Amino acid sequence: MSLGTFDLDTIYQGDCIELLKKIPDNSVDLIFADPPYNLQLNGELYRPNQTKVDAVNDAWDKFSSKEDYDLFTEKWMQECFRILKNSGSFWVIGTYHNIFRVGNILQNVGFWILNDVIWVKPNPMPNFKGTRFNNAHETLIWATKSKHSNYTFHYHSLKAMNDDLQMRSDWWIPICQGEERIRVNGQKAHSTQKPAELLFRIILSTSNPNDIVLDPFSGSGTTATVAKRLGRRFIAFDKEPFYVDVAMQRLEKIKPIENELLEYKIENKKPKVPFGNLIEKGYIKIGEIIYSKDGKIQAQVQADTTINSNGIVGSIHKVSATLLKKDSNNGWTFWYIKQNNTLISIDVLRYDYENKFLKTRNKDLNLFPIQEGLVNVPQENNLIYGNNAV
Ligand SMILES: C[S@@+](CC[C@H](N)C(=O)[O-])C[C@H]1O[C@@H](n2cnc3c(N)ncnc32)[C@H](O)[C@@H]1O
Repeated sequence: MSLGTFDLDTIYQGDCIELLKKIPDNSVDLIFADPPYNLQLNGELYRPNQTKVDAVNDAWDKFSSKEDYDLFTEKWMQECFRILKNSGSFWVIGTYHNIFRVGNILQNVGFWILNDVIWVKPNPMPNFKGTRFNNAHETLIWATKSKHSNYTFHYHSLKAMNDDLQMRSDWWIPICQGEERIRVNGQKAHSTQKPAELLFRIILSTSNPNDIVLDPFSGSGTTATVAKRLGRRFIAFDKEPFYVDVAMQRLEKIKPIENELLEYKIENKKPKVPFGNLIEKGYIKIGEIIYSKDGKIQAQVQADTTINSNGIVGSIHKVSATLLKKDSNNGWTFWYIKQNNTLISIDVLRYDYENKFLKTRNKDLNLFPIQEGLVNVPQENNLIYGNNAV
């Protein structure tokens, strides 16, 4: 599979602005960019014991002025905007040196910010001079091409990842060290290699298997390696041939996770449509009789959206539980309506409602394959406020 003139699943050497220009419009699902910081370090930095600090002092981080940096940022970001799909996600990371400039340009280019995420480093590099607070975080911006983008977000999976609590916008992830740190002849291969966990969280939450992930500033290839592991297609650029070599070697060792394990099964949870919504929308009418599966038990739908079965009044769940002499019961699978002498589960109506009226974030989610013509589509005059509603 290719993307414009590029083969997918590889890393290309060159200036990203020139390379991005060769990618077709609206073709990429996820972009992660870790651009130069423009740190403007003057001279070398030493620890109190006179050992040299391994700071970012690379040629790729040098710009003649802030204006020069801004112009560069605007150029690569405009290309990213052009190539990103309308449903795509754009992520950019930076430090206090550049993130405010980058965030400003990002909005001028047209992106719509969904979140800023703070990557908190539990093990930051100390501030050796002791003249400022210890800089212990970086900032990520997550954006889409417009306010109305139908972007991917695997909310439930991220919640599961966070012990069933909604995932927050402060991510505690250690800086890259130990085994994970790529070394060549004992030296760090790249001064700003990002931890794989960071990319894991980004790619997992805002893309799907087989989506195309692009990184214009690949460095040691962290994005590409995590994308490969998670069954995504990828393409990455870096202008330094050395980094491209390092990243390609790193990639060779990565084995993709098998497809079965990559499915977002938890996202396929049943939609949360209350019974009352079906009445309001005209799927079930006030006064209508609903039935148990064998048709032997009946109940009538009341105006307050409770049901009444021979004087047992309550929610679909409560009434069915009472009839079955149980503490609780799932009313969605107990009750049926009758259409053209056929019993149809109210659960099917619920899925139809979700498919038609609630926009799901997961484009690939086939909620319930409903047979054509099985469910009477609510007409305008079926609505609760319409003439024929009751
Ligand atoms: C902050 S580092 C990215 C580190 C990467 N995220 C990682 O985990 O290893 C920025 C990278 O951008 C590359 N770079 C800088 N200017 C570039 C340009 N105009 N085109 C392509 N790559 C560029 C540098 O060579 C450097 O490797």
